[in-house]
Amino acid sequence: MRRRTHRWRSAAAWRFSGPTRGGLAALLAAALVPLQPARAAEAPEVAQACLSCHGDALAEGAPPIAGHSNNYIQLQLVFFRAGRRKNEIMQGVAEGLSDNDIRALGKYFASLPVPDTKPPADTQPDLTKAGEAAAGRHRCAACHGDAYLGVQAAPRVARLPEAYLAKALGDYRSNARPSSGGAAMTEVAGALSNDDIKALAHYLAVMP
Ligand code: HEC
Ligand code: HEC
Repeated sequence: MRRRTHRWRSAAAWRFSGPTRGGLAALLAAALVPLQPARAAEAPEVAQACLSCHGDALAEGAPPIAGHSNNYIQLQLVFFRAGRRKNEIMQGVAEGLSDNDIRALGKYFASLPVPDTKPPADTQPDLTKAGEAAAGRHRCAACHGDAYLGVQAAPRVARLPEAYLAKALGDYRSNARPSSGGAAMTEVAGALSNDDIKALAHYLAVMP
């Protein structure tokens, strides 16, 4: 417990390399700044270690990270490092990253194109319909965009692996994962049933 508190403090002291200062609040505000068009960034050496799980082939449970916004990637790494977003593998990875590593990784992965993934064949169209209805009720597109490709602090969620999506929604609901954007996802996920989560994950995963 002591260790965790200490780590959370050190993460709160972590600052963006931009003009804003003052820890996590500034970090969260920075996440709402409109995105710059992606520019190719040089791969930092530390990025090699990520590709075995987040490269062209994904390790089990690992989502694609290429093409997410710089701010989103940096935030998630800070959350993992602080133990606020719980995942044994990524907490272990992030523990070894410096602030400079995190900046370079955010910049690099954000500069890569979004993977051109074909959605898997939809073998459960009824579940897709249920997911679409749940997305309408909970106004998911209002933040993630009509095509679910992400808007500002809200990341792309279309065509992510179904199991990852379901886990992510469950993690927000159980507070195993914090949310940026004024706790947006913690509030949204709190209102979701297990059936909603199952249907939403399917709907987003098979999105054409
Ligand atoms: C051994 C496999 C493995 C390695 C190596 C690894 N990751 Fe991960 N990563 C995962 C898994 C599994 C998750 C999903 C965690 C969860 O469910 O919350 C993840 C999640 C993430 C996320 C959150 C993505 C999202 O959509 O919210 C980011 C960002 C990330 N990793 C970045 C990195 C970076 C940068 C590196 C290299 C420094 C790296 N990872 C190395 C397995 C790995
Ligand atoms: C009020 C705005 C808002 C609404 C409404 C919203 N989201 Fe989000 N969503 C966000 C933000 C901001 C994040 C990034 C949070 C973070 O830092 O982890 C996010 C993250 C996510 C993620 C994590 C993606 C990843 O790569 O790990 C998923 C999945 C997701 N949202 C799905 C949904 C679904 C499904 C709905 C509707 C039930 C929804 N969202 C409604 C703002 C919103």
